[in-house]
Amino acid sequence: MNPATNKFITFEGMDGAGKSTHLTWFADVLRQRGFDVVVTREPGGTPLGEQLREILLHQPMSIGTEVMLMFAARLEHIEQVIKPALSAGKWVVSDRFSDASFAYQGGGRGMDWDKLRQLEQWVHPDLQPDLTLFFDVPVEVARLRLANNASLDRFEQEQSEFFERVRAGYHKRIKQNPQKYVVIDAAKPLEIVKNRLEEIILTI
Ligand code: TYD
Repeated sequence: MNPATNKFITFEGMDGAGKSTHLTWFADVLRQRGFDVVVTREPGGTPLGEQLREILLHQPMSIGTEVMLMFAARLEHIEQVIKPALSAGKWVVSDRFSDASFAYQGGGRGMDWDKLRQLEQWVHPDLQPDLTLFFDVPVEVARLRLANNASLDRFEQEQSEFFERVRAGYHKRIKQNPQKYVVIDAAKPLEIVKNRLEEIILTI
C-alpha cells in the first residue's frame, strides 16, 4: 500500500474477540504518526445510525428487517461520515462494516449470501475497506470473555452454535477475497496481539 494516502480500515471479529480495545489503541498510534483519523462504528456512526443501533441490538425483529436496517444504517454512515472523511484526506477506522453482515446475518442467521451481495452492491458499489483486521478467536474463548458483561445485547445473548456459524461466515468471506484481510489470532494475550498490530501498522 502507498504510505502517502489515507485509508479506510475496518476491524471485525465476533463479540468477545477484543477488537474494540485494540481499535482505540490502533487509532492512537496512527494519530501519533501525524494522520488525521476518524474512528467510527457500525451499526451506528451517525445520529440516525445510532438510533437504528439501539433498535437492532435490543428489539426482536425478522431476519429480513435486521439485514435491511443494518444496510440502511450503513448507507447513512457511508454518505455522512466515511466518504466525506476519505475525500478530506482523513483516515477512517471503523469498528465493523459489511463483513459483519455477511458473518452475522449470512452465517449466523442463515440469510442468503447472494441477497447480501446484492445489498452490498447497492449500498456501496464503489467502496471497500483498504484493509480489514479480523480478530479471530475460538467461540469458547469469546464466550468466556463475554461472561463478565452485566448486560448482553440481542446478538451477545445467542448460543455458541450461532457464534460458530458467525465465525465460519467470516472465514467464508475472507476466502473470497483474502488479500484484503489480515487475520489476527486474538486468543493470544493482549500484549502479543498489540505486537502483531504494531507490525501491521509498519506495513500500511
Ligand atoms: P459490537 O460492535 O460488538 O459492539 P460492542 O462491542 O459495543 O458490543 O456490537 C454490534 C453488534 O451488531 C454485534 O453483535 C454484531 C452485530 N452486527 C451485525 O449483526 N451485523 C452487522 O452488519 C453489524 C455491523 C453488526
